[in-house]
Amino acid sequence: MDLEKFVSKSAKAGEIYNLNHFRTGWHRPVRRLMGNELVFPPSPKVIEAVKNIADKLNYYPEDALTDVELREKLAEYSGLPGRPDWITCGCGSSEIIDMLYETFLDEGDEIILSNPDYSPYARRTKLYGAVVVEVQPADEDFNYTLESFTGKITPKTKMIMLSRPNNPDGHQVPKSLVRGLLETGLIIVVDEAYVEFGEDSCEDMLDEYENLIISHTFSKAMGLAGIRLGWIVARPEIINYVNAIRTPLNVGLVTHVAAIAAIEDADYIRANAARIKADREYFFNEIKKIPGMRPIPSQANFVMVDCLESGLKASEITNHLLERGYLIRCFVNARGLPGDRYYRVTIGTHEDVVNVLNEIKAYAQAHAGVTA
Ligand SMILES: Cc1ncc(COP(=O)(O)O)c(C=O)c1O
Repeated sequence: MDLEKFVSKSAKAGEIYNLNHFRTGWHRPVRRLMGNELVFPPSPKVIEAVKNIADKLNYYPEDALTDVELREKLAEYSGLPGRPDWITCGCGSSEIIDMLYETFLDEGDEIILSNPDYSPYARRTKLYGAVVVEVQPADEDFNYTLESFTGKITPKTKMIMLSRPNNPDGHQVPKSLVRGLLETGLIIVVDEAYVEFGEDSCEDMLDEYENLIISHTFSKAMGLAGIRLGWIVARPEIINYVNAIRTPLNVGLVTHVAAIAAIEDADYIRANAARIKADREYFFNEIKKIPGMRPIPSQANFVMVDCLESGLKASEITNHLLERGYLIRCFVNARGLPGDRYYRVTIGTHEDVVNVLNEIKAYAQAHAGVTA
């Protein structure tokens, strides 16, 4: 069979995302500091809710569109109480990326992305025949200027997508920059996957700007990466179009009940986020003391470190930590991160942070002749 003759352009353009780091996380006895998950278990109320639904798993869930209770809770959490029609859901915010692309991007359309950013943003555009236009940071702390974005706008530009704070560097563009982007009238997507660890949300701009879409996830501060739930907040006209392309029943039954229980226990989410923020600052200040380690200021639950000046390679630090039981992430010649100099540590427990710091310090002393 000449398979190529039958396969769609989209499938030919697709790439399989390498998720081996998650496999390692499940199959080796390591501390998982590679995927920006929360290391704390779900709230006891979530665990109870999931147990209570177990004997109904023979049934389909309610669809996210008709599940007003879930959307009401999400609207409330997003600062828009009483506006469930401003919400729709995806199987993780990963699916939301595709849902938004399918809603807005046709072949040949341009999307402006910062470089680096969350890597699926660029990769998934290929499925829709869209063209990525990249914006480079203005400095080595991954700050951006508004003009670097607006200068790239052409008649073909449909959308600008930002993660705020940004994965992988943790930088959070100022709200004034987001406002400037919104003023262009293009579709502006702000991915707030890490917003609970940052300083502010762009949600207060939703009433003012009809072109703003905000994306959220249960995978980070909510500590529920396993349930795969993401949601977007935007005005109902946008939500209706996104629902038109959304796969019916795309959110599982366990996910619905776990999400509702998690939001009802929002204090638990806030308390965990506060612990992570404190330990992020601790990690940042301590890693900076190791000669040659330059952490990038972060508003997320991770810190990316540039180790160029230490004379060590990010990959060797990462491999050493893995041998010591800590799985972190390194970026070797990744998009927007050239060379072998950047590694990223998800903030785990305080003990994880202290142990990782000690390991890096000892490794740096032994291998680069440095003294901390
Ligand atoms: C910025 C950003 N957006 C979206 C996602 C996807 O998250 P999920 O599909 O688990 O909601 C991630 C995951 O790391 C991320 O960093």
